[in-house]
Amino acid sequence: MKAAVLTVSDKGSRGERADTSGPAVRQMLEPMGAEVVAADIVPDEREAIAAKLRHYADILKCDLVFTTGGTGFSPRDVTPEATSDVSERPVPGIPEAIRAKSLEKTPMAMISRAAAGIRGKTLIVNLPGSERAARECLEVILPVLRHAVEVLGGGGRECGNQSGEK
Ligand code: MTE
Repeated sequence: MKAAVLTVSDKGSRGERADTSGPAVRQMLEPMGAEVVAADIVPDEREAIAAKLRHYADILKCDLVFTTGGTGFSPRDVTPEATSDVSERPVPGIPEAIRAKSLEKTPMAMISRAAAGIRGKTLIVNLPGSERAARECLEVILPVLRHAVEVLGGGGRECGNQSGEK
């Protein structure tokens, strides 16, 4: 699986804040067999974010793209909008699951506006900006990513065999 990680942060893009969430996401993906082929930082600019997402999907042909940051209420938070701009099919279940699980840890989860969507054969998922929150949210969806990528690629085993029932 090919993956890309996009950190969305005004300060990070200017080198005024060290990006720890992008590397944390990368570090969590590699043990599941994902090769991170791109990792970038962009400011909270809708078109800059969208351009990177298009590049990862259309040119690099990534299976998975994660963004970190820009999903909250601050006036500059536009990552979900940029994600919707480039998504051909929304995937509401992923942010729903992340928020549901995160609410068990903090009521702040309800102010996440994170989105997820499919562009071609690429799954794009928004994560929050803090390293701890990004880790918590990615943890929730790690168990389904391989199957999601298999199905998205047109292959994959029967969903019935992948229920993950506890
Ligand atoms: N989700 C989890 N699991 N843990 C958290 O600490 N923080 C929330 C929320 N989701 C949080 C979380 C907070 S405080 C905000 S403002 C939103 O994510 C958006 O984060 P962002 O603006 O950094 O993207």
